[in-house]
Amino acid sequence: MPRIIVNGTPHDVDAEPDTPLLWVLREQLGLTGTKYGCGIAACGACTVHIGGMATRSCQVQFQDIAPEDEITTIEGLSPDRTHPVQQAWLEIDVPQCGYCQSGQIMAAAALLAANPNPTDEDIAAEMTNLCRCGTYNRIRAGIKRAAELL
Ligand code: FES
Ligand code: FES
Repeated sequence: MPRIIVNGTPHDVDAEPDTPLLWVLREQLGLTGTKYGCGIAACGACTVHIGGMATRSCQVQFQDIAPEDEITTIEGLSPDRTHPVQQAWLEIDVPQCGYCQSGQIMAAAALLAANPNPTDEDIAAEMTNLCRCGTYNRIRAGIKRAAELL
């Protein structure tokens, strides 16, 4: 049975080769913090990290995950929910309905790992996740605050 590493823990997973990683995470591993929004790489609700890169898990097939790939979901971003992005999100009260926010947080964390002091233009270029509640201004403020907490 193929083994994948999620949040530092190996899991033996029995899934069809073309099963999207999103459904492996949610249905087989019970990691429901990663959300389904569109299924066509448009919204980013399903964003996780693979090897530290923000990745839309609805677009990654199970067969394309290498055994050494380190997959991180919102549940594994920080052992105690104190990642700077999570702290900033709480401080600024970024979410509205919350549905898109685990994807937003994962995208923001990957952005800051690559660029610890992003400009507004950097944030606009990298944060392509959609938010139907329109929390974009607070997301930008949250990323700026998280950069101060790094
Ligand atoms: S559910 Fe994956 S990008 Fe929308
Ligand atoms: S907070 Fe509601 S969709 Fe983003």
